[in-house]
Amino acid sequence: MQVHLKIQRFNPETDKEPWWSEHDIEAEPADRVLDALNQVKWFQDGALTYRRSCAHGICGSDALRINGRNRLACKVLIKDVGKKITVQPLMGLPIVKDLVVNMEGFFAKYRSVKPYLINDEPEPERERLQSVEDRARFDDTTKCILCAACTTSCPSFWAANGEYIGPAAIVQSHRFMFDSRDHGDQERISIMSDEMGVWRCRTAFNCVEACPRGIDITKAIAEVKMAALRGKIE
Ligand code: FES
Repeated sequence: MQVHLKIQRFNPETDKEPWWSEHDIEAEPADRVLDALNQVKWFQDGALTYRRSCAHGICGSDALRINGRNRLACKVLIKDVGKKITVQPLMGLPIVKDLVVNMEGFFAKYRSVKPYLINDEPEPERERLQSVEDRARFDDTTKCILCAACTTSCPSFWAANGEYIGPAAIVQSHRFMFDSRDHGDQERISIMSDEMGVWRCRTAFNCVEACPRGIDITKAIAEVKMAALRGKIE
């Protein structure tokens, strides 16, 4: 099938404003949008710049705004988005070049929630065991691949000029707060209670719609809010 791609471009060395390049390609309905971008880069315009790595929905590097919705380019099939495809960088993060955005602020927020187990107890001789029920409490939030599709689709994130900690960092906080082996809940509750923390969430559900891993993000956010309200994990 013939596919028409419209791609937002920006080269900070030569452009004052973003502009659009347009490309016609031949593609199969089951090709992915990433395959279409590769065709453009390999056969039409080698300067086109975008991130990709695993090409299988695992690394999270090719989250893009595709026909106005945040998606992984390697997971979206052309037959599901139609013959006219618009591709833009994620909104709310500074553009480095074309479809590549600067993720440093996003990862700084991720690091700020202390995304690791905090436990000062003496090291046990064997691993710290956990019941099936305890593991299930945070199973959903272990699926996050840090692609930033959720945070950059969030109107609260846009409205706060990127200062709001955002759904991805809250999901990561949830993953550790609700782990029975972790003792860092007070530290994370304090981080979440910051004016740019979890209470900035207005439950728009854009994050749930954008998440390529199907994480129920607003449920996780509601649980973090409840923990912040009670001052402890229950
Ligand atoms: S390239 Fe790794 S998630 Fe798409």
